[in-house]
Amino acid sequence: MKDNIILGVDIGGTGIKGGLINVETGEMITERHRLDTPQPATPKAVAATFKQLVKFFKWKGPIGVGFPAIVSHGVALSAANIDASWVGTNIAKLLGESSGCHVYVLNDADAAGVASMRFGAGKGEEGVVMMLTVGTGIGSALFIDGQLVPNTELGHLFLKNKKEVVEKAVSKVARKEKELTWAQWGKIFNKYLLHLQRLFSPDLIIIGGGGSKSFDEYKDELTVDFRVKPAGYLNKAGAVGAAWYAWEQEQKAK
Ligand code: BGC
Repeated sequence: MKDNIILGVDIGGTGIKGGLINVETGEMITERHRLDTPQPATPKAVAATFKQLVKFFKWKGPIGVGFPAIVSHGVALSAANIDASWVGTNIAKLLGESSGCHVYVLNDADAAGVASMRFGAGKGEEGVVMMLTVGTGIGSALFIDGQLVPNTELGHLFLKNKKEVVEKAVSKVARKEKELTWAQWGKIFNKYLLHLQRLFSPDLIIIGGGGSKSFDEYKDELTVDFRVKPAGYLNKAGAVGAAWYAWEQEQKAK
């Protein structure tokens, strides 16, 4: 096994997806393999599915995992769109034991952001750069001169009142539930971006997830002063960024 190849996995509410990643080029060198997230997605059930995925690749090396929660030192500290029983679980340890591999875990949006900064729309970008993933929830990743500030959770800001966090109003799921066109959705999303402008004065915001594919349909609604770009890296970014993170941690440990 070459040490620039790492298994990258993205754990989501509906699917657990992974592939072998060349961390020098950011390419997935195998087909992406996807298994359904078990329901309920308890730690035990997810660990069993994870083991299956690792077995599929006959993998024995390090693994990077993007996980949809606050992840501090491998431990889940929140559970907005996942089973509540994850809070307090050491994800890295659990998945490490189930797979027999060294597992490194970070927040899923942080992982997608890392991929964008190394290999995608954020490559070479300095200053204050943010990635927002628009999917089931809203995930965020903040970079200062390319350095990640983990677990920013900007999808959990209150926009109008203290009853509804932003991701309940402007995620992809919220758009479908509220039956909004992308243009109508874009107007609300723009308010969110204006709020982020007031708080962070970003130089660039990169939009990932489903909100990236439909960027052309709502971009005219955006009135912010900073640049906004679609990620373009789409559904492999989480796995690529997680693999890169695992590789970086392995290098530090050497
Ligand atoms: C979670 C974040 C996650 C985002 C995208 C939010 O509900 O709080 O941790 O990054 O969803 O999956």
